[in-house]
Amino acid sequence: MNTKQLKQKYFKFFEQKKHALIKSSSLIPENDPSVLFTTAGMHPLVPFLMGEPHPLGKRLVNVQKCIRTGDIDVVGDPSHLTFFEMLGNWSLGDYFKDDMIRWSYEFLTDKKWLGLDKNRLAVTCFKGDKDAPKDDEASKVWLNLGIPDDRIAFLPKEDNWWGPAGETGPCGPDTEMFYWSANDVQPPKKFDPKDKRWFEIWNDVFLQYNKTKDGKYLPLKQKNVDTGMGVERTSAMLQGKSSVYEIESFKAIIKKIMDLSNITDPDESKTKSIRIIADHLRSSTFILGDDLGIKPSNLDQGYIIRRLIRRAIRHGKLLNINDNFCSKIASVIIDIYQDEYPELSRNKKFILEELDNEEQKFEKTLRSGLKVFESITLHHKEVIPGKDAFMLFASYGFPLEMSIELAKEKNIKVDQKGFEEEFAKHQELSRKSTEGKFKGGLGEHSDETIRLHTATHLLHAALRKVLGSNVSQKGSNITNERLRFDFTYEKKMTPEELKEVEDIVNKQIIRALDVSREEMSLDEARKKGALAFFQEKYGEKVSVYTVGDFSKEVCGGPHVKNTKELGHFQIKKEEAIAAGVRRIKAVLE
Ligand code: SER
Repeated sequence: MNTKQLKQKYFKFFEQKKHALIKSSSLIPENDPSVLFTTAGMHPLVPFLMGEPHPLGKRLVNVQKCIRTGDIDVVGDPSHLTFFEMLGNWSLGDYFKDDMIRWSYEFLTDKKWLGLDKNRLAVTCFKGDKDAPKDDEASKVWLNLGIPDDRIAFLPKEDNWWGPAGETGPCGPDTEMFYWSANDVQPPKKFDPKDKRWFEIWNDVFLQYNKTKDGKYLPLKQKNVDTGMGVERTSAMLQGKSSVYEIESFKAIIKKIMDLSNITDPDESKTKSIRIIADHLRSSTFILGDDLGIKPSNLDQGYIIRRLIRRAIRHGKLLNINDNFCSKIASVIIDIYQDEYPELSRNKKFILEELDNEEQKFEKTLRSGLKVFESITLHHKEVIPGKDAFMLFASYGFPLEMSIELAKEKNIKVDQKGFEEEFAKHQELSRKSTEGKFKGGLGEHSDETIRLHTATHLLHAALRKVLGSNVSQKGSNITNERLRFDFTYEKKMTPEELKEVEDIVNKQIIRALDVSREEMSLDEARKKGALAFFQEKYGEKVSVYTVGDFSKEVCGGPHVKNTKELGHFQIKKEEAIAAGVRRIKAVLE
């Protein structure tokens, strides 16, 4: 069964169970400052998991493109990828544990669906601690389905608990499903979750608690189910492979890398390099291919793509690929995925150009950087100080892990903490702690972000009043402190125009307009004049938010109830981010 067939089966199974199919959201969360990337299918659904009604009902299913950079160091092993597709289904206060576990078992093992061998299955459940009891409810359902005692392991919070990523919010125990990946060895009777041959393929999360500010776990009014199945991992099991890199969707990518490097029979270290290139360029292609126009830079998402591309280039060098190769591999990746993700063909030119640019930029500094690196290692034979590693990064564009890898070849360590301290001094990124922000989880919907979200709608409508109705949204991003809004417009805005936009927004705030929400079809919404610029994201029914007589937009929410809650609106910056695309940063005071 190939990956496309797996996805189709999953949709069909859950559609039979009355789930509505929703689209994959952007890889870059629009209104959630707590993470740089969408790390799981539930991520864009947080408002609905918190109780906001979803226009398509209480049962949802989809496939979501995800990026997780936390595991970047282990990419190349059999199961880790920085980009992957996650199948998911959700119950928003509808069915719960018993149904979900039975359905999981049915989908995995029934011949009509995946038909996986039940003798190769094992599961983990939450062990219990001072905050929440052992999840006997879950394990009982598994036992009743015929999973033997020996194949059920109970693990603590670090393993079998999901959320909240911030301090507060919905969270709960999960039960994870593993499949024995080794074809030539019988699965052991007793399940040992530490044995890497057990491949985690699916995770059912039961969001039944709300963690409060004082650290209590209170039962949640709306109990939700959030599940995530790794497409690549599950496909590997279905295709009888013991590594995600051997599935059909990687074949053409790996072949292209091998052709470019003239390798026919790679040893272990070359295999690792090939896989790192395949993974990192797949992630870079999808990030660049997202409609928001994120490019390699030294900040936030841009820095992640830079790291991914440069690490891929360095491994290309290890394989003796010397000419510009990233865009050649990206073309293959686009061919594979463009039917399912049309944004890739839409942004093909941008993706290929940015990869070429970054590769050329890196080439320029790489050689001199390597010389400097050599001279540093002459003076520091055991540990390269953080300051030097940072200098290599800032002046020669060496991502930290590249310095670490180069140093490792000489048996030298790098003072990573020192690097991060230097980084923190120099980068805005550090404000949210260098690593914390890359992990994923439940989004943040504080009062501040909700207020800024409503202000974004006012800004959008005001811009169209002042600059004309061909202005349209390209993207938005909100943190606790500011909103950022990207829109199409050819020229720099004049100070007068900016002032006029600010005044119009502030006038709507003073007018104390009510904000209301309705559900309708996208067609109806358009007929009523609602703005809707993200074609692919919408389902059959959408939510429309109306602000008095001033603005109407298709949007997932949440929003304030009345504009008087907003305070004073101020534009801080207006700049170009691409040809014909401007960016405004604004705050509420
Ligand atoms: N959020 C859970 C995960 O990512 C289930 O979707 O594993």
